[in-house]
This record gives sequence, C-alpha cells and structure tokens, in this order.
Amino acid sequence: MSLSPFLNNLLISYQAAPSADNSQPCCLSWEPPILTLRYDTERVGSYTFPYDSQATLLAAGAAFENILRCCDDAGVGAEVTLFPEGEGSNVYAEISLQGFEAVTNSLLPDFVAARHTNRHPYKKEAVPKRLADQVESFGSEIGVDVKVVSSKADIALIAKQVQVASEIRFQTQEVHEWLEKSLRFTAQEVERGDGLDVETLALPPGGGAFLRLVSCWARMKKLNRIGAYKLLAAIDSAPVRNAPALLAISASDSMVGGLDAGRVMCRAWSYLNAEGLACHPYYVISDQLERLKQDRVPEVLTGQAKDMRKNCQPLFDLKGGQTLMMLLRVGYPKKQALRSRRLSLEKVFKNLSDN
Ligand SMILES: Cc1cc2nc3c(=O)[nH]c(=O)nc-3n(C[C@H](O)[C@H](O)[C@H](O)COP(=O)(O)O)c2cc1C
Repeated sequence: MSLSPFLNNLLISYQAAPSADNSQPCCLSWEPPILTLRYDTERVGSYTFPYDSQATLLAAGAAFENILRCCDDAGVGAEVTLFPEGEGSNVYAEISLQGFEAVTNSLLPDFVAARHTNRHPYKKEAVPKRLADQVESFGSEIGVDVKVVSSKADIALIAKQVQVASEIRFQTQEVHEWLEKSLRFTAQEVERGDGLDVETLALPPGGGAFLRLVSCWARMKKLNRIGAYKLLAAIDSAPVRNAPALLAISASDSMVGGLDAGRVMCRAWSYLNAEGLACHPYYVISDQLERLKQDRVPEVLTGQAKDMRKNCQPLFDLKGGQTLMMLLRVGYPKKQALRSRRLSLEKVFKNLSDN
C-alpha cells in the first residue's frame, strides 16, 4: 500500500494535532475526494471525553485546522461541510479535496513539526509584544477571542482560579479515573502510542511513583482526608503563577464554537512554537466550567465551582454566551520537551488498506 506524498503529509499533519490526555479521539475515512473527520466511538467512547464535549471538540478542531493548513500549503482546495446532516451523530466534518491528484511534490508543513507541549519551567523573559499582537488577531474572522495576559497581577488572579479548579478536580472521582486510564508508566504502555507518557509530564524525582500511588481513586480519596488535593492543586497551579504570559481562548459555548476554538488554539500554539516559545495547556478551569453547566460537579463542591465561574468572567472578559475554551502557559523554554507518541496510522485512518 502506498499513499501519495500529499495524502501522507495530510495524515501526519492530522495526527500531530493535540488532544486532551493524548487520547486522539478522532479518526478519518477517505472516499475520494471526501475526507470524513469523526469521533472514534469504538476506540475511545468508554475512556475519554464524549463526542460533543468541549475537550473533544477542541481536539477535533485542532486536527481539522492541521488538515486545512496542509491543504492550503499544497494548493489543494477544501470544501467543508460541518456536522453534516444524515450522517451518524459522530461526524465533525466532511472535507471535499479539490485538485489533490495533481500534487506530486508536497512537503510536510513546518508547523507540524513545531507544535508540542512543554511542561518544564520557563524563563522569566517576556513574550514579545509583536508575537502577542499577532496571536491575538488569529481568531477574529471566526469569532474566537484570543487574549494574551502578561500583567503579573492578572496572572496571579488566574493562577488562583486554576488552583481552585484543580482542587475540585482532585476531589472528583470521574475526572480522576479518566486520568488513571490515560497514564502510561512502562515502556510497553507507552508503546501503544496514545495516553500520557509520564516521562512527558516533567515531574520531579519520585514524582512518577507518587503519581502511580495517587492515580488510584480509592487511595486518592483516603489521602484527600488529610488534604492531598490541596497539595496537588498547589503543585499543579505553581507554574501558572510563575508564567511570563498566559494565553486565553474564549468562544461561543456551542459545538461550532468548540471546533473553531480548537482551530485557533492549534494555529496560535503552532505559531508560538515555531517562534521558539513553549506552550503548556491548562484545561482544568474550562473543564470545571463545563461540568458545572452539566451539573456534574460533586454537590459539596458546587459552591466553590460557582465562585470560580463568577471570578473567571471578568478575568477572561467573557461575553454573553461565551466560555473559556483553553488556557495556555507561554514562555521561552529552559529545557526542550520530550515529544509524546501517536497511534499508528492504521488505528486512525479507517480505510488505509484501500488506498
Ligand atoms: C483539549 C485539551 C486539553 C488539554 N489539557 C491539558 C492539561 O490540562 N494539562 C496538560 O499538561 N496538557 C494538556 N493538554 C495537552 C495534551 O496532553 C497534549 O496535547 C497531548 O499529550 C499530545 O502532546 P503534544 O501536545 O506534545 O503533541 C491538553 C490538550 C488538549 C487539546
């Protein structure tokens, strides 16, 4: 089986997109000239965020963005139908590729290799205004707001809300059990190509063993009686407090809003990485906001979650109907990050053997 250089690059670009816990929740199928992007219900349905969750829409939007940019790079036209009717309920987009047969000398676009997560500490050096201004302009044509926060006072206020959201998160069984399923501790587990390789988490010495211990909910629950959730949330939010800048992405709280925010997130993240800056997403506030809306925050914690929501609204300039989609810590890296793996093409490209 051999793919044309263009299709091969398109698949690599698609696969390089980020996803929550590296769950890679989507798959592609190809009936020339139509490429269909959908949720891989069979593979991830019981283990990660559902099809219509904000986290999955962000990942799908990021994959969609990489596909469209790859087409653009190669001069291939793309006619898009979002959430097509009559399809199964797990389709995000149908993309009709125009003129792909004529492309013979396609190269892998630079942004694909550049984008990655770096969870190490960053230098104090500020993010240049020219780059901040550039990324802030990215979502304007599709109604996504990108805001670069670099005032120390505002960063401290946001870090406090990350800490609150993180405290709730470490006391929530469902979220904790998802993390447990995502973590990859051994070389054999990492080999699978999905999930979070603990080596990419930039943990301090002994951090991996500690994470393995607390990744079991029954143990975490016991340790929470002596305040473990507070300690973990303080560790989790400390890098945000020390960040030279934060990038906040907000959009309309809808399925199209989630997909569009994912596109802009991937574009901004790739752009900053290509300019030598490092990025580290913090999804915890967005996740708790969505859980609050869906009544999925444990009852005893809803008061704290509601306060957090109230505090976030002015911090992120959220307008009516908008929600915070993603927060990223941004700065110049002190250390290069270990790259996370990806699933084999056979797992995500459904009809690979027919091409
Ligand atoms: C919706 C979404 C939420 C994420 N949330 C977090 C997070 O809260 N903390 C974190 O360290 N990484 C987070 N990530 C980063 C992913 O773990 C990362 O993209 C994935 O492991 C693949 O690694 P890569 O970005 O280096 O390609 C998130 C990514 C996405 C798309």
